[in-house]
Amino acid sequence: MRNIWIAFILIVSFGKFNSQNLSSPTPPMGYMTWNFFGDNITEQDVKTLTEAMVTSGLRDLGYDYIFIDDGWQGGRDAKNNMIADPKKFPSGLKSLTDFVHSKGMKIGIYSDAAPLTCAGYTASLYFEEQDAKSFADWGFDYLKYDYCGAPSDWQTAIARYSKMSEAIKKTGKNIVFGICEWGDREPWLWAKKSGGQLWRTTADVRDKWYSGQKNTKPHELHGHGAGILDILNINGGLDVFAGPGGWNDPDMLVVGLYGKKGPSGDLGGIGCTDTEYQSQMSLWCMMSAPLMITCDVRNMNEITKKILTNKDIIAIDQDVLGIQAKRKIYNDTWQVFVKPLANGDIALAVLNTSNNSKNISLDLNSLGISEKNQAFDVWTKQKIKLKNDFTVSVNSHETKVYRFSK
Ligand code: GLA
Repeated sequence: MRNIWIAFILIVSFGKFNSQNLSSPTPPMGYMTWNFFGDNITEQDVKTLTEAMVTSGLRDLGYDYIFIDDGWQGGRDAKNNMIADPKKFPSGLKSLTDFVHSKGMKIGIYSDAAPLTCAGYTASLYFEEQDAKSFADWGFDYLKYDYCGAPSDWQTAIARYSKMSEAIKKTGKNIVFGICEWGDREPWLWAKKSGGQLWRTTADVRDKWYSGQKNTKPHELHGHGAGILDILNINGGLDVFAGPGGWNDPDMLVVGLYGKKGPSGDLGGIGCTDTEYQSQMSLWCMMSAPLMITCDVRNMNEITKKILTNKDIIAIDQDVLGIQAKRKIYNDTWQVFVKPLANGDIALAVLNTSNNSKNISLDLNSLGISEKNQAFDVWTKQKIKLKNDFTVSVNSHETKVYRFSK
């Protein structure tokens, strides 16, 4: 008996030790500059965005990263150290990371595994250790590493990502490593081994619902412009690859962009309805996705705020079990997802992808939802006493989300 107890204590403390050591035990949340600012990002923007994340309450809801995407670079100095563009970042990056940290937030930076980034700025190939040291010395907590301008084969991608992840480890700092090769080389199969805590699974999200292309592979989406539904179709089937410390990344939230021209406005990114934005939030949370806001948080309308600050849906994303929802129904009209949660509750999401409002009757037992007495609608906050039949009515492109409990 004593031995059993010792074994039990060892297992529990090892599990605890392990989860404390993960850089990303739950999916990262925060703000990314790309969709709204493109490469036109400045120190002043980062500061005002940080302040808005705090005053809007977003930081305290868990959105605690502020992320500087492409466009910050100003080339290299005489010693080949990377420098920030002095016009955009006149006080330098160290003072900026200090500012962000003083506001209780963490800060991320972007580079690429080739000579130049996607937007044509200086990148890190052959300077991995030197650049990782600069990022660490400046005080960054997160690196997103892109793949524009690099060879398309798998081996090179794996080698280049592993090299940068080793360089980060060598700095001794706890820096989250985001792999961004857009799902082209099925990174869910190798990214974790190559040091990534998250990996993009598709082409860049546009501010739109759907390209209309069926059964696309990630790389085929580049030219069509990936909408929310295109990305869901791919990422929704990758649940077995995600978990604490290693997340599928279906790209940023377009919630609240409303067709603002910028990178997310390309390729048909004309904007979405609030119902579609709410669906993105629901589905991304069900998929345990990183939640990176991209609209102008300094000027959000009420509905955008309501979508982004719903504690009940955020709790589903950040649940400590870290299980990405399984897609149980997938046809021309419906997508139904089920996600087990740490306290024994189960979350259910029902998306109507058709152009009309429809009802669906669900057999909860066959979805793996049994012995539950009530369902809580995370958007309307209604509590429903369960009877034999569970019928929901869902508007076009709407996603209903319920939390089932005893
Ligand atoms: C790629 C990435 C985007 C963004 C841009 C920046 O397209 O996938 O998320 O970082 O590069 O140039």
